[in-house]
Amino acid sequence: MPGNMENGSGPARTRVRICRTIEEMRSARAATRRANQRVGLVPTMGALHEGHLSLVRAARSQCGAVVVSIFVNPLQFGPQEDLAKYPRHLEQDCALLERERVDFVFAPAEAEMYPAGAVTYVMVDGLSERLCGRSRPGHFRGVATVVNKLFHIVEPEAAYFGQKDAAQVAVLRCMVRDLDMPVEVVVGPIVREADGLAMSSRNAYLDAAQRRQALVLRRSLQQVEMEFARGEQRAELLIAAGKRVFQQEPAVRLDYFEIVSEQTLLPMSEASGALVAVAAWVGTTRLIDNIVLQ
Ligand code: PAJ
Repeated sequence: MPGNMENGSGPARTRVRICRTIEEMRSARAATRRANQRVGLVPTMGALHEGHLSLVRAARSQCGAVVVSIFVNPLQFGPQEDLAKYPRHLEQDCALLERERVDFVFAPAEAEMYPAGAVTYVMVDGLSERLCGRSRPGHFRGVATVVNKLFHIVEPEAAYFGQKDAAQVAVLRCMVRDLDMPVEVVVGPIVREADGLAMSSRNAYLDAAQRRQALVLRRSLQQVEMEFARGEQRAELLIAAGKRVFQQEPAVRLDYFEIVSEQTLLPMSEASGALVAVAAWVGTTRLIDNIVLQ
């Protein structure tokens, strides 16, 4: 039987059901089908913050049943990346999700998702090598494979993703289209801290000085937005303006600063309607942010 979260002494609420195995998740899904409920899935790696919760709230408002998956997917981490230290707070996350009236949490163990000998992957050619895919080889293969598996296990009518990971959205939209998946992809806006830093589970790695330095990502995008609003259309010049802002924070190492099509992630020379995406290292923490110019 799926586990339940304790309610404490607060007002009675429907408890979130925690499914640890694919079989438990499938039988929960079967019950929602009998009840004729539209199912919304919010895939996450846990360590939940307001960015994740904004997607949960969108799903809650549009679906009869909401499933949140919490799985730190080893397949999308490179060998030198932060898989081992990635924050894991399952109990705290489940308590937050219970407050959001989520119906099911799917939190499988690694061996449940990738039994020994699993060798099948989903590869979105081209897109997977752009933006974050260039500096994180294999990352989007890992993302596409796990999201494909989650779609098969949960069979959601709609799936919710954040604009924060704009390249991930492009890769997953392409996968859904190319493989005829009957899932509506819904994208929610970037949720930010009060000072403008895009929320991320990885912000927890930053010390106080790095937390201040990290604001340079946002500032560089705002500079581009300002020059675009003044009439500058040439991507090349806007990129140069964005990169110049990084000189204010020599401790931050720029990974990429690009102006690309939201769909193809290929460079655009004219900035109107384009995605401006930035990634940078603050100490050993890699952060990303983006805006769309309209
Ligand atoms: P994770 O980083 O946990 O993010 C889960 C979802 O929350 C993603 O769709 C992400 O874009 C969204 N999100 C994160 N920060 C956000 C913010 N500040 N504002 C709005 N949305 C935000 O992305 C992943 O996990 C994984 O790659 C996953 C899709 C779960 C596959 O493993």
